[in-house]
Amino acid sequence: MADKQAELTVGGENFDFPTLKGSCGPDVIDIRKLYGKTDRFTFDPGYKSTASCESALTFIDGQEGVLLHRGYPIGQLAENSSFMEVAYLLLNGELPSQDEYADFTNTITYHTMLHDQMRQFYQGFRRDAHPMAIMCGVVGALSSFYHDSTDISDPEHRKISSHRLIAKMPTIAAWAYKYAVGQPFMQPDNSLSYTGNFLRMTFGVPAEEYEVVPAVEKAMDRIFILHADHEQNASTSTVRLAGSSGANPFACISAGIACLWGPAHGGANEAALNMLREIGTPDRIPHYIERAKDKNDPFRLMGFGHRVYKNYDPRATVMQKTVREVFDALKVNDPVFETALKLEEMALNDPYFQEKKLFPNVDFYSGVILSAIGFPTTMFTALFALARTVGWVAQWNEMISDPGQVIGRPRQLYTGPTQRDYVPLDKR
Ligand code: SDX
Repeated sequence: MADKQAELTVGGENFDFPTLKGSCGPDVIDIRKLYGKTDRFTFDPGYKSTASCESALTFIDGQEGVLLHRGYPIGQLAENSSFMEVAYLLLNGELPSQDEYADFTNTITYHTMLHDQMRQFYQGFRRDAHPMAIMCGVVGALSSFYHDSTDISDPEHRKISSHRLIAKMPTIAAWAYKYAVGQPFMQPDNSLSYTGNFLRMTFGVPAEEYEVVPAVEKAMDRIFILHADHEQNASTSTVRLAGSSGANPFACISAGIACLWGPAHGGANEAALNMLREIGTPDRIPHYIERAKDKNDPFRLMGFGHRVYKNYDPRATVMQKTVREVFDALKVNDPVFETALKLEEMALNDPYFQEKKLFPNVDFYSGVILSAIGFPTTMFTALFALARTVGWVAQWNEMISDPGQVIGRPRQLYTGPTQRDYVPLDKR
């Protein structure tokens, strides 16, 4: 049974702080009054031991490799649900009834179009602009088209902005791809599913009908589910911090996209496939494993390791299974998959990776699938952002609708110069 109080001795004086208990996972020590009581801050760069908020959306047990969305295990959702149903679940807390599901998907469908002037934003980019640069810019610009719904204190404004963001991300991402390859933008087709519509906007052309391959649609939808939300990761924390100032939701999601872009975070899927292609054949794996272990070499195995998972990332398990399904459906067989399987096997049998509890994460296999479907590596993180918009929006709503919500403002350990007087230039 957790202690009710945590006791801290500072400067010879004892202080008690309440311990709070969640529905599962570690208890937390409530230190909101620590500074007022002890004139001390806590110090936790990277927030490795810090809970930034209370949330009911997603639970991760890193030791056991467990991931739950509103209590439902990710493996069951990936197997039985759909991305739109998971979006509803994260936003509303319960799985939808058939009527609720139909109403939600219909609402999302009828917000997939972009204001026609949005096309102009793309024209300003070089054709070789990274899709994530385009996503940051275009999503941030959305707020300039929706002055009718940026009062975040109004639940209806929050709802319509949330639906617009979730609905428009596939169109924005697909158009970023079309712009890069010099093909015309495809408008949404309301007769298709959320994911089928995205595939058609990405790979379809006006010159002919586009046939959505069901196995690819199912794999893509499952990949979206696996990326939907993941507790208080760096980009979600960025969205929350941006939102805590009252910034509009479009600007907050644009901030999340910027953070996700980093190779240590969402950019790892692009980096992981580039790494696997650089390794090439299995005989070259030992050299790269040695490099990853060499403290003097900045090289790391991309798609490996995780701040929270010290066990297999349950999403990577589903991802690895999905590779074969896509290869079979598309009758492809990229040898990079064999290299990935061999690399995983060798790394997991290496004492360095065992001791540091480094396992494949969600990014290790996703690129193999996305490449087989036809996406260039530069689009991988944009697809991650498309899916994670559901989680970002749900987390943002949870924070803004909390009446106790305050602006996030961390403090610091100051190590700069103490106060000194200015010296005029002619005296220096
Ligand atoms: C995502 O937070 C989330 O939930 C993120 C995410 C989500 O859904 O939102 O799950 C998505 O971002 C997955 C992670 C994608 N990133 C990568 O695959 C990049 C490669 N991985 C690493 O950069 C690293 O593992 C991190 C950034 C993911 C985690 O870093 P931590 O928690 O800060 O751990 P660390 O860097 O302190 O590593 C611990 C030790 C270190 O060695 P020591 O200093 O203790 O000697 O493990 C080593 C690291 O050098 N290490 C690795 C390694 N990852 C960690 N060594 C080789 N290869 C690696 N991949």
